[in-house]
Parts: sequence; structure tokens; C-alpha cells
Amino acid sequence: MKIAVAGTGYVGLVTAVCLAEKGHDVTCVDINLQKIDLLKQGKSPIYEPGLEELMHKNRDRLTYTADYMDAYRLSDVIIIAVGTPEKQDGSANLEYVYEVAKQIAETAEQDCIVAVKSTVPVGTNDKIERLIRDNVRNNVSIEVVSNPEFLSQGTAVKDTLYATRIVLGVKSRNAEKVMREMYDPFNIPYVITDRRSAEMIKYASNNFLALKISYINEIANLCEIVGANIEDVAKGMGMDPRIGDRFLNAGIGYGGSCFPKDTKALHWLANFNDYELKTIKATIEVNENQKLKLIKKARRYFDSFRGLNVAVLGVTFKPGTDDLRDAPSLVNIPILLEDGANVRVWDPVGMDNLRKNFPEEIIYCQSIEEAITNADICFIFTEWPEIKQFDIKKYSKLMKNPLVIDGRNCYSLESASEAGIIYESIGRKRVCKKEHSYSLSSPVS
Ligand code: UDX
Ligand code: UDX
Repeated sequence: MKIAVAGTGYVGLVTAVCLAEKGHDVTCVDINLQKIDLLKQGKSPIYEPGLEELMHKNRDRLTYTADYMDAYRLSDVIIIAVGTPEKQDGSANLEYVYEVAKQIAETAEQDCIVAVKSTVPVGTNDKIERLIRDNVRNNVSIEVVSNPEFLSQGTAVKDTLYATRIVLGVKSRNAEKVMREMYDPFNIPYVITDRRSAEMIKYASNNFLALKISYINEIANLCEIVGANIEDVAKGMGMDPRIGDRFLNAGIGYGGSCFPKDTKALHWLANFNDYELKTIKATIEVNENQKLKLIKKARRYFDSFRGLNVAVLGVTFKPGTDDLRDAPSLVNIPILLEDGANVRVWDPVGMDNLRKNFPEEIIYCQSIEEAITNADICFIFTEWPEIKQFDIKKYSKLMKNPLVIDGRNCYSLESASEAGIIYESIGRKRVCKKEHSYSLSSPVS
């Protein structure tokens, strides 16, 4: 089939490449000329395991262009995968989605399906259809299908090729038939429903996962207070198949391009319709507080961070991606800088993106060792394998004060105890050898 994909972000590009892998001819459209240039050279603008290899393998079926007219004119399916960023009030910004819909209406020269992959509030697909009807130039039939995606960054290719389900919100048999033709080669179960339910499946899924994370984070906070261990608690809970063991890792809160934005957007949508989603309101609030948890722990040791050497390990919102969108590090680093700390950062792939936010204010290190040498505190924001596998004894050897405050529970309490460090983590008891507490400026007893 001939397919066009609008937007070459995480969702658009991965979808396009996977469709090409299944034998379709795919044209990727983006307004960002730099991205198109890179793509034409066979390079992926995003860090996503396996993506460049697949781009290369399917290069004969993939075209990249900034010229949407050429792409939309004669396609069987046009997938909209442009961003829907969060607006100031928490609602989703649909400007880009509507712009693409209008362009399609003005350009299409044959009957086609518009598949909306961007995450959009319930009812948006209906509006897109109306917008297309009002603007269509040629005598063609254009149907709109809601087709949300569930890919995670870092495993996006695998999540697309081996998705758990393909959700299609359709209004006609013809739309269903064309979409099935496109997706049948993937051999993945379908959920066929109406458009509003499909739109809701996406939001309800992401919000549920965010809720699960905020829930386990709250239980972790309580574990710290009452002396329980969150890892054992999560293990015990997760063995019940009704709960499931995934997304039960307590930490410093969720980030990324989806959970923060989609929780706020669903909450906003409910409010707009005079309904309060209390569970989601709490999810958002818990997450905002959780992001500040490490700093609060550190303040129990130091009244101020002024003049301290502070190592930050991991800045991306999770491992396996260079994406910093809504990463907890972006909330914490400015606090440290404002307090006058000397911030030394290490991350295997996220530092180039971090430099865009902090070009000169912080020191970028080439290794974990370099970042922690002579440090008074070390914060861990992302559980990169390099950090988990790092020889924990080196913290006490290299740091000035071996105070490690870990937001992702990278180390066992036993190894921290053996390494002789002061170790604070999430939902577990503090590890502290008595003699260390005296070397800090204002220690807790
Ligand atoms: C996607 C979605 O589509 C969003 O709704 C979902 O919730 C998360 O995933 P993502 O792929 O992460 O977004 O977006 P991003 O990486 O921002 O990429 C969007 C791309 O669309 C960019 O390359 C941008 O240049 C392009 N774009 C944007 C257009 O081509 N045209 C526009 O009018 C606007
Ligand atoms: C998410 C959804 O998983 C995906 O289905 C949807 O399409 C887009 O949003 P993504 O944002 O790439 O994907 O990452 P995900 O792996 O879900 O992690 C999101 C955030 O939650 C990260 O900051 C991660 O650190 C955090 N998280 C995840 C936890 O804190 N604990 C967990 O147990 C799992």
C-alpha cells in the first residue's frame, strides 16, 4: 500500500519504518528540514535501538520529504503523528494535528483514510473529519480512523512490530477494511470500536499506568516511614496476576512525552465536562511531589548546597532514550544551581540534549568516575545499566563525602552497606555507617 506519515518524531518515524518493514511504500513528511536532511542521509534524528538498521534495510520503500503535497496527493492511508504538546492549562495543543488535516483535505486526489495516531482528546477525530469535509478540494472520499499507538521510547521498534493490540476506532466497514489491509502483515490482535472509545483507550491506558506508578511511589513513601521495604512489597504484590509485576518500580516519578501530558489532558477534559477525575488529580500531585524527593532527602544533610560539588548521574526520563521531556532531572538541576552548587553531570546519551537547557552552568563529564570525584553528594535520576553495574565501592573511594541519593534503587542495601557509603534510596531504609554521619555539615541523627 502507499502510505504517508505526517511527523517524524518517535511515533511517526518508528511507525513509518515498521510499515516499510512489512512491505508498504511509506513517505515520511516533516516540517523540520534538518530532520528530513538527516533522514535522507540514512540517519535517525532520535536515539531508538534498531531504528537506523531498519531504515537502512527498507530504504527502497522509504521516502523523506518536507513537501506534504507530493506525499498526501496519492496515498491510500495518511497517518497523522505530529506532536500534541501540553498547553499552559494542561489541555492538548491540537494546532498541528488540525493543520495537517487541512493540508490533507486540500491535497488528496484519491479516496483515502486518515489514521490519527497522535494522542488526542475524545471527540477530536470527529472534529478532524468535519474540518476535512469543510476543506476538501477534489471529489474524493476521506475517512478518519482513530488509531492510537502504545509504543514506549527505547523499545519503540519492538513495541510496534510486536504490539499487544491494534486499536481501530472506525465509522465504516470500508475504513476497517483498508486499515486491516495495512496492519494484517503484523499479525497482531485487533480491537475494533468506535472512534471515541478508541481515543479513550489510549488516554485510559496511559493514565492507568501513571496511576500505578504514583500508587507504588506513595506506598514506597509510607514504607520509608513505617520501616517496610518497597521492593519486597512490590514483588509480593506483583505475583498476583490481577495486579501484575510491571510498572511497580518506585522512583522519583514518571516523566517523558506521554504520562505527564496525558494525565493533565484527561484531567482537563473531565473538568471541562464538569467531572472531576479524583484518581488522576492525585496521580499528578503525587508525581510532582515525588520529583522533589531526592532534594528533600539531601536537605536533611545540608542546609544549603552552596559551594558543594554535586554529581548527577542520569538525566533522561528513563534509560534507553536521549529524551529529556519532563525528566525529573530538569526539575532538580535548577534547584541545585539556584542554591549555588557545582553540578557535574554524567549520562550516556542525554548530555547533548541537556546542553540545550544548560549550555554553561554545569560541567559535563565523560565518565561516572569523573562526575563523582570529590563530590559531596551524588544524585541518581536514571537507572542506566552503566550506573547499576558501576562498582559501588568507588563512591567511597572517589567522593569527598560518600553520600549517594538514588532515585531509582540501583543498588542493593547489602552492597551499599558493604561499600561503606551513606545510601538513601526510595521506599527502603537508609544505609549509613555511623562514623560517616559526623563528616557531614548537619547530619540527621
Ligand atoms: C507523539 C504524538 O503524536 C503525541 O500525540 C503522542 O502523545 C506522543 O507521541 P512524538 O512522536 O513524541 O509525539 O512527537 P515529536 O517527537 O514531537 O514529533 C512530532 C514531529 O512532527 C516533529 O518531527 C515535528 O517537526 C513534526 N511536525 C510538527 C510536523 O511535521 N508538522 C507540524 O505541523 C508539526
Ligand atoms: C509510555 C507508555 O508506556 C506507552 O505505552 C505510551 O505509548 C507512551 O508513554 P514512555 O513514556 O516511552 O511510554 O515510557 P515508559 O517506559 O512508560 O516510562 C514512563 C515513565 O515512567 C518514565 O519516567 C519511567 O521512569 C517511569 N516509570 C515506569 C516508573 O517510575 N516506574 C515504573 O515501574 C515504570
